[in-house]
Amino acid sequence: MSATIRTVVFPVAGLGTRFLPATKSVPKEMLPVVDKPLIQYAVEEAVAAGATKLVFVTGRTKNAIADHFDTAYELETELAAKQKDELLTVAQSVLPHGVTCLYVRQSQPLGLGHAILCAKHLIQEDAFGVILPDDLIDNGADPVMCQLARHHHETGASVVSVAEVIPAHVSRYGVVDAPHFEGRSGRLQGIVEKPEPEDAPSNLAVVGRYLLSAEIFDILERTPADHRGEIQITDAIATLLKDRPVDAFQFEGEQFDCGNKLGFLQATVRLGMKHPEFGEAFGQWLKDQ
Ligand code: UTP
Repeated sequence: MSATIRTVVFPVAGLGTRFLPATKSVPKEMLPVVDKPLIQYAVEEAVAAGATKLVFVTGRTKNAIADHFDTAYELETELAAKQKDELLTVAQSVLPHGVTCLYVRQSQPLGLGHAILCAKHLIQEDAFGVILPDDLIDNGADPVMCQLARHHHETGASVVSVAEVIPAHVSRYGVVDAPHFEGRSGRLQGIVEKPEPEDAPSNLAVVGRYLLSAEIFDILERTPADHRGEIQITDAIATLLKDRPVDAFQFEGEQFDCGNKLGFLQATVRLGMKHPEFGEAFGQWLKDQ
């Protein structure tokens, strides 16, 4: 077992209704933050953690994601003919060599747990990563999936990434019960989906990064849909932790919920200010407003 994770699943079949009208025909994962689509940040994080197999769980309107990671033959031929070598490298390095993309359809949006279950037949490893691309986490040289992989390597536990939220917001998230934290992690004793603030076991909310034992698939198959008709990964993790170690991990990094418009704008400003080419000028322009 090494501190890398070979396979990462990207559940991208959601409808993205909070981002309408932008997401009527464009997948939310293809919305660019500065100069890269959200899904590319997620893929770069997975590859940094050692992933060589990327499994995208897609839906009907998500073909642009597969196109983005495919070879753009006409574009590349054109750029090569015009000797635009730098741009050619940008286009070709969207997917590093040795990384394979696999696509599976979730024919109905029956929840995140159901989306992950759709990837079951493509996972051979004992453990795999899950990245929700709309949670963009900026942490420079040590991306969150690398942090999760190291924790898994050290403990053998499944890992759920968490971040503190204000108590009034707990009802928007999965919330963990992990009373004995040491450093950045604590063993999970419970996990609940979208609790009322008065029922929440903590103010530590699940963020879109998981490193899960493949045993989760059998559990997901037995997990009933909730009152909204969705199979929740939270419910399956609540079952998994009864027999297997699952840790909450408070990651290092700044998180932006790019599934909503405010979070997306914040990510755009933060990453815009850090951009090597025009970050300084952009920061100055912001100050002048
Ligand atoms: P969200 O809760 O953000 O749902 O899903 P959504 O449909 O994408 O967006 P809104 O709420 O309508 O604006 C969290 C993640 O789980 C995936 C989504 O694609 C997103 O990455 N998901 C959710 C699925 O793949 N399938 C589902 O059935 C539900």
